[in-house]
Amino acid sequence: MKRVAVFGTGYVGCVTAACLSRDGHQVIGVDIDTEKVAALNEGKSPVAEPGLEELVAEQVAAGRLRATEDFELAIRETEIAMIAVGTPSDHAGAVSTAALEKVICSIGQTLRGSDQSYTVVIRSTLLPGILETSLAPMLAEAADSALGGRIRICNNPEFLRESIAIRDYDAPPFVVVGAMAGTDADDVMVLYGAIDAEKIVTDTYTAALLKYGCNAYHALKIGFANEMGALAKAFGADGQQVMELLCRDTKLNVSKAYLRPGFSFGGSCLPKDVRALTRYAEEQALKISILRSVLPSNQEHLDRAIRIIEDRGVRKIGMVGLSFKSGTDDLRESPFVTLAETLVGRGCDIKIYDPGISVSRLKGGNLAYIDQRLPHLAALLVEKPEDLTAHAELLVLGNDIADGLDLTSHRSEDIIDLRCCLVVSEQESPTSATIAEV
Ligand SMILES: NC(=O)c1ccc[n+]([C@@H]2O[C@H](COP(=O)([O-])OP(=O)(O)OC[C@H]3O[C@@H](n4cnc5c(N)ncnc54)[C@H](O)[C@@H]3O)[C@@H](O)[C@H]2O)c1
Repeated sequence: MKRVAVFGTGYVGCVTAACLSRDGHQVIGVDIDTEKVAALNEGKSPVAEPGLEELVAEQVAAGRLRATEDFELAIRETEIAMIAVGTPSDHAGAVSTAALEKVICSIGQTLRGSDQSYTVVIRSTLLPGILETSLAPMLAEAADSALGGRIRICNNPEFLRESIAIRDYDAPPFVVVGAMAGTDADDVMVLYGAIDAEKIVTDTYTAALLKYGCNAYHALKIGFANEMGALAKAFGADGQQVMELLCRDTKLNVSKAYLRPGFSFGGSCLPKDVRALTRYAEEQALKISILRSVLPSNQEHLDRAIRIIEDRGVRKIGMVGLSFKSGTDDLRESPFVTLAETLVGRGCDIKIYDPGISVSRLKGGNLAYIDQRLPHLAALLVEKPEDLTAHAELLVLGNDIADGLDLTSHRSEDIIDLRCCLVVSEQESPTSATIAEV
């Protein structure tokens, strides 16, 4: 059993407080809203949420749940704070952290000069970086104590949906705690002992961005489905049935497929077919902003790779893979062809290793495409990987042909793997994500 203060008794905070109390913890809800505090103490839910009124009444009657406006009292009587205050958009769309800062300062000031051990858990949705560079230093300064020992700070994003919030609390997709040190998460995981879900400890940046990724993905899915519905109407097709059938493909559509950060897509189908849909929509004066931005987004990603390669300032470049994926010699709209063409055009000395490609075997549209983009391809291709590594000051790994090669001749900083996130040389990743299952 833990003694927990839940700051903010709105939709997330009240559900969290009531469920934690139901699971055996001693909980104090803390809010600046007098009416919410009074409602809770009378055994009433301050927000409308199915099942919450009954749960709050039961827990208040059992003496495990109460509320207060007195921050200091709540902190002194507890060992963990779950902060679930609002993080609304400010006038420019950025995250407003005013309420969070107020709570953090109060916690720090109350802990200052005491020997109380305390874990602060940010449950509110917060962009990566704010906890680490703003809230954590603020807490340390207010408490006049370094973090990581007696006082710890973690994040623990919430994935519940209003209207089925208790059900989602009890059966989340996973429980994720972001921690600066592994043991910081221990006390937080104890709170979820009764929850049957995968428990994951990761770094605070990953945990924070995961929450935004989930919401952005949900928003993207809804927007995509609506655009497909609009297209279906324009074509005279049944949009509901199209999407119902699309979702039945759990191999490629509703699955992990295509959901890892890597390189731009290409090939003879994806670009062509997205182009056809957007062209048709233009002819029909139908606005489909999501689908219309897919090819520009893909091009921006390719441009990012070109910038990263050029920033290395070397001329002799070895590319591993030219076809859009390994196992095919289809070069049509391969992003690696565009990459090679651009680098050659900018004066780089390129060699390419792709055992699947033989210039003499290229035919039809494939040959026409390469004649137009890389007419001197034969002079760029090398037959053996050793010829590539001997030539290259910088190796650029494109498709999975790279997996079978011995690249130990090159230091890791002289290799760019386009199949990973393309951010490293633009901005150094703040932490290396370590994921541990608990
Ligand atoms: N609502 C959802 O479905 C949902 C789901 C997941 C995550 N979230 C995130 O959880 C956070 C809270 O969302 P919500 O919908 O519960 O917000 P809410 O507005 O319903 O509740 C916030 C509560 O915080 C209180 N508060 C404000 N300043 C305070 C302070 N200084 N000290 C103590 N209490 C204070 C408010 O009075 C209010 O009761 C947000 O970051 C949100 O993005 C919300």
